[in-house]
Amino acid sequence: MPLAGLAEISDIGRDPRRGGYSRHLWQGAELELRSWFVERAERLGLDVETDRNGNLWAWWGRPGPDAVVTGSHLDSVPGGGAFDGPLGVVSALEAIERLQASGFVPTRPCAVLVFAEEEGSRFGIACLGSRLMTGAIDADQARALTDQDGVTLAEAAREVGLNPAHLGLDRDALARIGLFVELHVEQGRGLIDLGRPVAVASSILAHGRWRLSITGQGNHAGATTMAERRDPMVATAQAIVATQAAARSHVGTRATIGRIEAIPGGTNVIASAVHSWLDARAETDAQTRLLVADIEARAQQAAEQNGCSATLTEESWAGAVQFNPGLRARFAHALGQVPQLPSGAGHDAGVLAAHLPSAMLFVRNPTGISHAPEEFADTADCVAGIDALEQLLLELL
Ligand code: GLV
Ligand code: MN
Ligand code: MN
Repeated sequence: MPLAGLAEISDIGRDPRRGGYSRHLWQGAELELRSWFVERAERLGLDVETDRNGNLWAWWGRPGPDAVVTGSHLDSVPGGGAFDGPLGVVSALEAIERLQASGFVPTRPCAVLVFAEEEGSRFGIACLGSRLMTGAIDADQARALTDQDGVTLAEAAREVGLNPAHLGLDRDALARIGLFVELHVEQGRGLIDLGRPVAVASSILAHGRWRLSITGQGNHAGATTMAERRDPMVATAQAIVATQAAARSHVGTRATIGRIEAIPGGTNVIASAVHSWLDARAETDAQTRLLVADIEARAQQAAEQNGCSATLTEESWAGAVQFNPGLRARFAHALGQVPQLPSGAGHDAGVLAAHLPSAMLFVRNPTGISHAPEEFADTADCVAGIDALEQLLLELL
């Protein structure tokens, strides 16, 4: 049955409070998904291993070099959809299963790769597994990252049996990949507008994450007159509105504040500080930097107007990605002139693109919505995606 894998995991990590799924690195649901993946892959006779950064590999035949590797991720944003990540993993396993069933014998090594913490929902850095593998994040900086309970990445890694000293650039793992292809649900309306089920990715927006911390004076909600207040919540509210105005004034850019934390966080307490997290994106690195500089200036102004102070700290950065034009044209042609579409979302395939030939396939999402429970893909379109992936694997292997 097509997409049996998605049905098998459909109850893992459901989030009754937020809706959708919450599957976070090395915590209950994500660990269950890892076990499911191991069992699924082993049923196909694949050899599963975990690399030193917690990424899972399932090898069809002997491990690399020059392997054709396909996969995605199993973690989610808080309250995310069922397809972002798992669709690529399930499709990779199904494409291999079909090739095996046809009696095909690969002439190159092949693996399914599941990247750890693609969404950055636990430790704040998107594409953490691929950044660690490629050395795009400093290992010491990564080890010191903390989750919302104050657990460091090093501690979390130790808890699941990894040696935290071994986190970071993994030249051996990287050297095994001859080519990477990630199938992913589309996170936009490109394929809806084109009336097509499948596309090849052309590019990824530059994007990054910043923490905006606005500090004022914590005080009593009843005893403090309105004139006396230095309220960082009000400053943050103004900064959020200003963020929207800034992104609207920089054509084609996107800025989001989707997470906020008041300290100490009491109904009858004027906050002493408010932290909020900015996600900013644009077509080029320079446009993104300009947008963030504008937002920072507006946030400073909002803080000053309220007797507060503001700091904006960069937590992660990913430059714009252009997927290899020759490779994507070749894939688009091989699949019957499927369209090439840009991505507003970041992906591990984008991180790998700086190091090796890397490509992506997108499957139509009829809602156009992602990072939310409404994210969707019709079975027929998912099957078209698996067909496309199988065809590419057949040619590449
Ligand atoms: C990942 O999905 C991102 O673009 O944030
Ligand atoms: Mn995502
Ligand atoms: Mn994803």
